[in-house]
Amino acid sequence: MFYITTPIYYVNDAPHLGHAYTTILADVLARYHRLRGEPVYFLTGVDEHGQKVQNAVRKNAITDPQAYVDEMAERFKTTWKRLNIAYDDFIRTTEPRHVRVVQQVLQQLWDAGLIYRGEYQGWYCVSDERFWTEKDLVDGCCPDCGRPVEHIAEDNYFFQMSRYQDWLVDYIERNPDFIQPAFRRNEVLGFLRRPLADLCISRSASRLSWGIPLPFAPDYVTYVWFDALLNYVTAAGFGVDEDRFAAQWPQALHLIGKDILITHAVYWPTMLQAAGLPQPRRIFAHGWWVIGGTKMGKSLGNAVSPLDLVDIYGVDAFRYFIMRDMTPGLDADFDAERVDSRYTSDLANNLGNLLQRVVNMTGRYCGGCIPQPGPETAEEAGLRALVEALPGQVFEQIDRLAVNTALSQIMDGLTAVNGYLERTAPWTQAKAGRAERVTAILYTAAEALRLISVLLSPVLTEKTREIFSRLGWEDDQAGDGLAWGVLKPGSAVTAGDPLFPRIG
Ligand code: MSP
Repeated sequence: MFYITTPIYYVNDAPHLGHAYTTILADVLARYHRLRGEPVYFLTGVDEHGQKVQNAVRKNAITDPQAYVDEMAERFKTTWKRLNIAYDDFIRTTEPRHVRVVQQVLQQLWDAGLIYRGEYQGWYCVSDERFWTEKDLVDGCCPDCGRPVEHIAEDNYFFQMSRYQDWLVDYIERNPDFIQPAFRRNEVLGFLRRPLADLCISRSASRLSWGIPLPFAPDYVTYVWFDALLNYVTAAGFGVDEDRFAAQWPQALHLIGKDILITHAVYWPTMLQAAGLPQPRRIFAHGWWVIGGTKMGKSLGNAVSPLDLVDIYGVDAFRYFIMRDMTPGLDADFDAERVDSRYTSDLANNLGNLLQRVVNMTGRYCGGCIPQPGPETAEEAGLRALVEALPGQVFEQIDRLAVNTALSQIMDGLTAVNGYLERTAPWTQAKAGRAERVTAILYTAAEALRLISVLLSPVLTEKTREIFSRLGWEDDQAGDGLAWGVLKPGSAVTAGDPLFPRIG
């Protein structure tokens, strides 16, 4: 079972390139695992409570917060649909299934004495929804976003996070793959060298009413992170479907951005440990899309809208670009010129032209039908061996979450097919009347293109279907599309417009 999650996104922000990146990465990984025949559960969703959402509601003079979050949740769903995101579940934290889980876990920890009431004094950053200590502040402002902070003293409820510090350090040390990449794991261990405080998990309802009431103190609502993190177990069937939960939950792979590493790698494991639940299998933090060195996002007003890029390049090219141009774990600079050059070199030339050549030559020399595979020379055997080895290499990269490397290997495969056609020159063979060579070459090239396109299908979800149909192959997913020799001689190929037309 492959259980993959994205962060649940705050509904006060329209989905931008950063959100699209995590979600497409999860979708692509889910599709690769499905391609391998594994059962997959892909979860995404939205985070609907908390100060940011309440502030957005107030700012827009909205009277009904639920109507606001309903509308914003739809915006995410619509965007994901346009980006061909095939999630299995879309969770919203205002759903009764989730509210029930949050209250159940709170009650359990309260009954076990792991939550207590005490006085809280601190500096609160409204924008980050985080309390800071005096020494955290930079020039009296939030060290994260630089905005002014408010001093607050009030009674609150605390989760005894500190008692899990030693356990957590030990757990991370014993499970080297728990937090990835390794430098993020070291960052968390560094953070844990300082004493870990208890976690304030409540907000006074007088200040923040938009949240899940504490079951044992209804004049307080649950801190948004304590609420949000639990979405991952809600969706896995916690408390309602114990069998599914037992099988699915421990397999979880959390994809997150580096901005939410501490909440996922410190708060969340201690919450699970306190509740007597197993840990997720892996937490992977990727980097940011930046523009000229600054993080892209709503607050900075530099957000790139994924749908604008889809309008220009098409959904497949957009998915390809953001998967190809970010090394998972590191930041990547968004550069419109690079989108253009990838489009032309990788998609229009390497892939699109190859399809055009194969289909046109099959039309000209083989009556428009996939020919018989003919005897192989060293050239055919060499290309076949290269292409047959590709799925194994690609899946190895996928297991490391290195989709960019997988795509670069796939592109090398296509370059090899193009090189093969140059060297074997079926047009020269045809002139010389060597019909058997021509059919052997064209079968090999068409089959290589088909198989490589299957490997591209998790990223290019639409164009690969077009390729299959032009090659006269219906990918009914019944057989092994990654095996060699699947194209049936005699199937009709179809010519058509360029797969990736010139832009502009
Ligand atoms: N609601 C919390 C997450 C709760 S998960 C239990 C949250 N939401 S968010 O809307 O701010 O989304 C944060 C996530 O969006 C990041 O972790 C990352 O996955 C993605 N990105 C937002 N901006 C990004 C970039 N500029 N670049 C890449 N991804 C970034 O935090």
